[in-house]
Amino acid sequence: LENGLGRTPPMGWNDFNHFHNKINETIVRETVDAIVSTGLAALGYNYINIDDEWAEQSRDKEGNLQPRKDRFPSGIKNLADYVHSKNLKFGIYSDAGRLTCAKTQPGSLNFENQDAKTFAAWGVDFLKYDNCHNDGASPKIRYPKMQKALLATGRPIFYALCEWGYEDPALWAPGVGNSWRTTGDIKDNWQSMIVRADQNDKWAKYAGPGGWNDPDMLEVGNGGMSLEEYRAHFSLWALMKAPLIIGCDVRNLKQEYLDILMNKEVIAINQDSMGVQGKRVSRKGALEARLVWGGPLSQGKFVALLLNRGDSTAKIRAYWEQIGAKPGSSVQVRDVWAHKDLGAFSQGYIEEAVDAHAIKMYVVVPKS
Ligand code: GLA
Repeated sequence: LENGLGRTPPMGWNDFNHFHNKINETIVRETVDAIVSTGLAALGYNYINIDDEWAEQSRDKEGNLQPRKDRFPSGIKNLADYVHSKNLKFGIYSDAGRLTCAKTQPGSLNFENQDAKTFAAWGVDFLKYDNCHNDGASPKIRYPKMQKALLATGRPIFYALCEWGYEDPALWAPGVGNSWRTTGDIKDNWQSMIVRADQNDKWAKYAGPGGWNDPDMLEVGNGGMSLEEYRAHFSLWALMKAPLIIGCDVRNLKQEYLDILMNKEVIAINQDSMGVQGKRVSRKGALEARLVWGGPLSQGKFVALLLNRGDSTAKIRAYWEQIGAKPGSSVQVRDVWAHKDLGAFSQGYIEEAVDAHAIKMYVVVPKS
């Protein structure tokens, strides 16, 4: 959507993957403080987004959404002000149906203008818009209604469609929203993550500045995957230009998880100004375990990723021409997880042993 937002994929935090809708204003405030004190904010994680179950079950007499008194006693405006006072942005959640997915609060269907005005008055900068309880009405009609309502407020609000990929949103959502989910909800395990990477890959060519494919939020730090698996998760999301929305409890995060989320070189791949979604370019071996992913970056660079989905260490080879570089190019290669220059390569490929459920990721710079 050409609303000036999302020129690179959004980065930030959302409560759902960790707190599963048990959100309240204390958690949000403490998260804001942690995002700043850890240095995550300085790396670009700037959206602080609340998910489902922030509102009362019923609207007020005028039909306005009301923050839950038990969880947000100081109100949403007050919380958004706190977020803004730290130079961060505030995101909220609603649904393009009668009820949200948790069913404990109303959706915005037929209240689009009124709710958009409420959000703008509170200082909302990001809206995640879900798809539950929609009575079968087409998302191609329901989602543009909120787009127009947001536009009419005059406030720039990042618009994240959460339609789970049912009606191939990549084909119609680029003119409607700044991101669109391509998958159902992620779970904190390897299989769930890998399946989402594959499903999201299919739509690569529809992503670009202003509108991104969204394979769902990050699970890094929630404890269900190994460190290597989380590195793979983070690297794939970065390469696919997916939103980097942290989904763990950042208030007491182990350093080893922070190190993954704070890898500047991987973040730079995600935030590259060209905004081209990297793709799966080959798969080999039993169960197609050995994969190469890659794509172009700005300034004539490329990203290459070797992914081992198998259960034992395997050698994986990426040819530069597979990731878009000219055949026979001589290149400089940097390993963005080892933070090491590997020097010049003139043989047209890189081949390395990759552990089970792990990746290697490189920035490749052709010599001119
Ligand atoms: C749906 C969405 C999730 C989350 C929940 C909240 O399942 O896909 O991301 O927002 O609703 O109830």
